[in-house]
Amino acid sequence: MTYATVEPRSKRARATPPVLALHGRTAPLKHVLSAKTIDVDDVDDLCRMADAFETRSVSAPEAAGKTIALLFFQPSTRTRLGFESATVALGAHAIGMDDMGGSRSRAHARTIESIEDCAAVVSRLSDAMVVRHHETGAAERMAAKSQVPVINGGDGWNEHPTQALIDIYAMRRGLGSIRGTSIAIGGDPRGRTVRSLIQLLRFEAPQEIVFCPPPHIPVPADVLAAIAENQVRYRMVGDIEQVLTDCDALMMAPYDMSEIGEPAASGYVPPNRTPDSHIITAEKIELTGSRTLLYHPLPRLEEIHPSCDGLPTAMYFEQVRLSKFMRMAVLYRVLSAG
Ligand code: CP
Repeated sequence: MTYATVEPRSKRARATPPVLALHGRTAPLKHVLSAKTIDVDDVDDLCRMADAFETRSVSAPEAAGKTIALLFFQPSTRTRLGFESATVALGAHAIGMDDMGGSRSRAHARTIESIEDCAAVVSRLSDAMVVRHHETGAAERMAAKSQVPVINGGDGWNEHPTQALIDIYAMRRGLGSIRGTSIAIGGDPRGRTVRSLIQLLRFEAPQEIVFCPPPHIPVPADVLAAIAENQVRYRMVGDIEQVLTDCDALMMAPYDMSEIGEPAASGYVPPNRTPDSHIITAEKIELTGSRTLLYHPLPRLEEIHPSCDGLPTAMYFEQVRLSKFMRMAVLYRVLSAG
């Protein structure tokens, strides 16, 4: 007679995922306000953790039961729902209001509760906060009054550091390594995603950065200075076919960024429409025989035609899927700080 084997309790316990360890790190992230304060160990650690969350090979007990406040003073789909989805996956809870800048919130302009007071209050009701605001420096101002870690989910024209972490993670996954590759940046180069991405590219040692900006919008001086400081070569090209011919990966930004921050940057001229020379289509990809991997933080406007969506080089929706694991990693790191 044979009997079914039942694993002893001790063995079954060992089969549960290991508790996540912060390899080589002793200092959890207090706030995530700018890509400038993220170092290469942080990036490596967060990418490793994101991989582990994807394969569910770890558990993160520090996050279970914690409360994440989502404070969105500006519209968002990916950042808000991405952090909410990551929160749920970690066994934590999300609180927040659909429209912090709207009439349901005391931080609405008419009732004039300052964002500092808002941070002081919400930080006493939560374990971490994610902030999206139209003003440069808003997340930093709130962090100064917060008792819990603050994550910048995009502040005006300034920065969007977690999007840059997602962008780097997705490009590392797509390319294997960014080292020695030619990375293009298309669309409006003044946006917050570009400013944060340039900072994180300093660790990746690409061979060059190729800009393909709208004809009437120069790349901001501070972005070029950051590249020069890190001794990465850059050049400008005038049409997207050149990018599709020359580059290993393209990170597109929306062509029209007029909605991103108020007041609009001085001298901003909103484009009427994206010129054909800057629109990627499946036809152009076929004509150039391009193998350039296409990324985009989204939302897209006209700059990547839907005809590209089914191509093997279209990575932008995969980038969204990966974003959840990176946001879990970021939340885990800040929650471990408490
Ligand atoms: N990429 C990004 O920040 O998208 P949302 O504005 O929808 O959050």
